[in-house]
Amino acid sequence: MTGNKNNIYFDNAATSWPKPETVYHSAEIHMRSAFGNPGRSGHTRTLAADRLIYRVREKTADFFNIADPARIAFTLNATDALNMAIKGLLEKGDHVLYTAMEHNAVLRPLTRLKTEGIIETTMIPCSDEGDPDLVFLENAYRPSTRLLIINHASNVVGTIVPIKRMIESAHQRGVPALVDTAQSAGCIKIDIQADDIDLLAFTGHKSLLGPTGTGGLYVRPGLDLKPLREGGTGSQSELDLQPENMPERLEAGTLNSTGLAGLLAGIDYIEDRGLDNIHDQEKKIRAYLYERLLDIKGITVFGPPETDRCTCVVSFNLGDTDCGSLGHILENRYGIFCRTGLHCAPYAHRTIGTFPAGTVRISPGIFTKTDDIDYFIKALKEIATLTGI
Ligand code: ALA
Repeated sequence: MTGNKNNIYFDNAATSWPKPETVYHSAEIHMRSAFGNPGRSGHTRTLAADRLIYRVREKTADFFNIADPARIAFTLNATDALNMAIKGLLEKGDHVLYTAMEHNAVLRPLTRLKTEGIIETTMIPCSDEGDPDLVFLENAYRPSTRLLIINHASNVVGTIVPIKRMIESAHQRGVPALVDTAQSAGCIKIDIQADDIDLLAFTGHKSLLGPTGTGGLYVRPGLDLKPLREGGTGSQSELDLQPENMPERLEAGTLNSTGLAGLLAGIDYIEDRGLDNIHDQEKKIRAYLYERLLDIKGITVFGPPETDRCTCVVSFNLGDTDCGSLGHILENRYGIFCRTGLHCAPYAHRTIGTFPAGTVRISPGIFTKTDDIDYFIKALKEIATLTGI
């Protein structure tokens, strides 16, 4: 088996690959033919770009069941959207609740605001499978609590969090909730109205299958965020300040219309295949992977065993082999690509007991076959034998 190089991509939690053919095609066609700057000028190329942006906004709104598409601001990625929400909403003296499974996209902005004496924060601890302590949450609110931040699905172990229940708890105290869907949008059904989400950050380049440089922030009507960026919008140019209406309030500068053309094709692809079918297929692949991993001597697998509670992500360690070295061997000897280390989520790793060394993370995608898992398991068994585990 050694040397039998394959090209197996198990890093879809970082960015999905391959994309559906239509995504590549749609981005290229857009760049070649609808190349105007949306919202600027009035010529036909600009109008074509304008129409595209309108369609992507409508498609995204429909996908998340958002009543008013104008409440979505397009961003560079989920990090950008989370920064917009956190820095746009919070004021001096505010208190923020967040879970231990958050990504650095949440942790770092919060820590900076806290260090500067602007906000106070409380981290909701999670079980070693990544489930937030809901009793702790109930007792953690303060009169000054202004925001609850929830990572919908962990990028380390895939655990899906009960957002509806947590949002209800926040709303009972008049606290809005910001949901980070970087790992869930495109693989789990998300319904803004049914889940009563106030702020939703999404990225386009993971399970929504679009290009990098795409994402967005949904802002509930009635919530006003200070803009993170200010500048041209192509509208109300006479105003000295950023317009107050959405999406211009949060969208300054030229949009990534090429990327958004790809994102439109990505969402179309998901709708054609059916989100439930995709989720079912990913559950089967994860269950297969999880079970086969447990066959390997010396392995520790992290995260919930029940596939219903997870996205298609599994983390593990093999004996005390350094996870970075393992990732290196997997790539160089077997052509398997995965992500190792702390995955930008240090407190998630503290929670599952793998800080500071981290884990090897395997994140299959919608094009992964059971054959790919078989090949990977064979490789891992061979590595375990060679390293004497
Ligand atoms: N946050 C992404 C990951 O988990 C990049 O790999």
